[in-house]
Amino acid sequence: MPHALHTTVEDFVEGLKGFERELITTDLLRRYVDSTRLSPEALKPFTFFRDDVYTRNLIFKDDLFEVMAICWKHGQKTTIHTHNGQLGWMAITQGEIEVHNYKYLSCNAPENQNVVGMDCLGGATHIELERQHTERCHAGGHINTVDKIQTIHQIENSDKARAGCISLHVYSKPIESCIAFDLEHQRCYRRTLRYFSRYGQVEVEVEHPVKTPLIHTVE
Ligand SMILES: [Fe+2]
Repeated sequence: MPHALHTTVEDFVEGLKGFERELITTDLLRRYVDSTRLSPEALKPFTFFRDDVYTRNLIFKDDLFEVMAICWKHGQKTTIHTHNGQLGWMAITQGEIEVHNYKYLSCNAPENQNVVGMDCLGGATHIELERQHTERCHAGGHINTVDKIQTIHQIENSDKARAGCISLHVYSKPIESCIAFDLEHQRCYRRTLRYFSRYGQVEVEVEHPVKTPLIHTVE
């Protein structure tokens, strides 16, 4: 399918909502996200770079879909994390990103996976993950996905370009937390996901007397 070079964010979201009447599958949405690219200019209202941390910027959310732009400076990366069984699609809009894929082998609290509505309660103190291949994803390149089979990964911006990387993410269904793995200290735990900005407006943490933007945790 040819790339639509001048897609607006509004058109992208409208097209996405059209899939809500049918079965949402990895392949179906991969084709859509691949053929409906957004430019860095189109994403400008949702683009915020910070020196200390990458930023998660919400573009659209309903019961089935969550769309966000993530802005990464050189060296910024996520924890190793799961996706709670959700499906996800990532297109790179600017720069290059590495995705390190992992496979769960075992842990000492597997019974904590037997919980309704989320993948796991976390809390293990011995975890074995197998590091698998690393995918290099660049602007205009292939669409990276997470799914029920490949659900653990880490995303890293190792691109030295000073402009930073921008990635566009679509998730179904939206999740508000996920499990993060700390292999060095052998622990896993549930983390709440936050946005740096919503619909172009930077979030403000109200409980602090000095107003500071909310920092994301994992992606
Ligand atoms: Fe992720």
